[in-house]
Amino acid sequence: MNKKKSIFIVTVASMVGLMAACGGKTDQSKSTTTTPAKSMLEEKKVADPKGIGEVKNVNLTDPMEESMIVSGKAIYEMKCSACHKLTDQRVVGPGWAGVTNRRRPEWIMNMITNVDVMLEEDPTAQKLLEECLTRMPNQGVTVGDARSILEFMRKNDVEKVGSKDEAINQ
Ligand code: HEC
Repeated sequence: MNKKKSIFIVTVASMVGLMAACGGKTDQSKSTTTTPAKSMLEEKKVADPKGIGEVKNVNLTDPMEESMIVSGKAIYEMKCSACHKLTDQRVVGPGWAGVTNRRRPEWIMNMITNVDVMLEEDPTAQKLLEECLTRMPNQGVTVGDARSILEFMRKNDVEKVGSKDEAINQ
């Protein structure tokens, strides 16, 4: 074997080696990046305190918005009061007293506007269904109206339990 040829072989061999190492490395990093991403997703599904739906962030104002309280109350009386009391007493669904202290505002609004998916996939909603044994029906409430209902719930919490919005600190 002449010198030129053996140098060539060494070069090719090391290139192949490098490529193999590179391939191996890529595969490894792929598997290490997919594993935590997947488990994060699964974790999210177990208990996302914001629930599931289009409501990702709610801006709460203080003092509360009087006009939203008024329209929230009207919607409550029309569409919710048959199943929900304003005290902590359960009728068909849970009483609303303290609801903003136990659930994040996003969760509440997603529960109102996306109830079917919430009952299928959100563990907190599923637990409520197990307790209440009745599926809350989709009431066709818009996100804007759900925001007004939330404001009415905040006001109700101040009146009934003396505090509101505590779930956002949990
Ligand atoms: C036919 C009865 C019924 C009506 C009407 C109804 N709900 Fe419900 N709601 C339920 C039940 C039952 C649950 C518990 C989850 C389940 O079993 O589906 C629930 C749960 C909830 C929860 C979660 C409460 C908690 O303690 O976490 C919220 C918030 C809620 N409903 C809001 C509303 C709003 C707002 C309306 C009116 C627009 C409404 N519901 C109308 C039956 C009803």
